[in-house]
Amino acid sequence: MSKLYSLCLATTVAATAMASIALMPSVSHSQSTSALNKTIDSEGNIRLPEVDFRKEWAALGAWAVAAEEGTQGSKGIHMVYTQPETVDAYRKTGKFPDGAILVKELLGAKTADMTTGRISRAGDIEGWFVMVKDSTGKFEKTNKLWGKGWGWAYFGANDRVKTTTVDYEAECLACHIPAKDNDWIYTEAYPVLKN
Ligand code: HEC
Repeated sequence: MSKLYSLCLATTVAATAMASIALMPSVSHSQSTSALNKTIDSEGNIRLPEVDFRKEWAALGAWAVAAEEGTQGSKGIHMVYTQPETVDAYRKTGKFPDGAILVKELLGAKTADMTTGRISRAGDIEGWFVMVKDSTGKFEKTNKLWGKGWGWAYFGANDRVKTTTVDYEAECLACHIPAKDNDWIYTEAYPVLKN
């Protein structure tokens, strides 16, 4: 067998083995891995997940922000989404698993009288808050978007890639202190996490 031939053969075998390894993992595992790989880079920078989360992910729940005193209805609606695997893991363990991504979409609200009564409905998108779970604290010493076992970032509606958040501790943490003993997350509004 010539050297060149055996080299080609070895390469083909290796390529075939790699292709079958790449195809082997279960669909849900590879989906969540790819969502995660596209959401955080090797330095821990975070972008809005590229996946169509409104359609592909689980809706955890919604928050309606009350309008100012004297006005009726809501002035904003917050919709929160996560990967379906995160819901499965949370139902089993009561915890958010590493790789969990939470997206809170901020929507304006419009209030109108309809046949059901006075109703507030979702309006335009204003931006997104994103959190990514990593209990190993991999980026916590080198990237100020990371701490307390999470990555934290906000995106205005006009830029899904570059976060406006510089320092999670200054910009996010204080408001999440009431949920500190619940891994910093306000799960009380997320019925899908309960079995
Ligand atoms: C003004 C206070 C405040 C600030 C600042 C804040 N949060 Fe929150 N956040 C909340 C509250 C309260 C909720 C739940 C109720 C709601 O959405 O209004 C929440 C919910 C969330 C959720 C949905 C998951 C959950 O905890 O229930 C995410 C994701 C989130 N915040 C990320 C962030 C990130 C990232 C930052 C910083 C860039 C940030 N928040 C800054 C108060 C705040």
